[in-house]
Amino acid sequence: MACSSSVAESYSTGEEVYEARCSACHGKDFEGRVGPALDAGSQSASMPDSYWVQTITKGKGSMPAQRLTDNEVTMVIEYIRSNH
Ligand code: HEC
Repeated sequence: MACSSSVAESYSTGEEVYEARCSACHGKDFEGRVGPALDAGSQSASMPDSYWVQTITKGKGSMPAQRLTDNEVTMVIEYIRSNH
């Protein structure tokens, strides 16, 4: 198995990643809970993917870094953006 990351892939869709790893803090419908809203009108919607990748993989403020593969990070960003 070709694996460029030391983290094992655990999810096969962006929706799975979101529900397992983001929705508890950002809300099932991206409306925000402990973390800010991630929906169409939110500040994050206008931010570039590089900002999202950085926030997800390194954490930000009280958001802990999420251990996900590059592919999982890409999938979850696409999932959130495509649901705006
Ligand atoms: C333990 C709760 C928690 C989890 C889990 C979590 N977040 Fe967050 N997230 C936060 C908090 C709190 C902030 C605000 C951090 C700050 O600005 O200080 C945040 C900020 C963000 C931001 C930046 C928002 C902005 O307006 O700048 C993005 C994007 C984001 N999270 C995406 C995600 C994604 C995608 C996942 C799942 C892979 C995730 N988060 C998982 C709590 C969480």
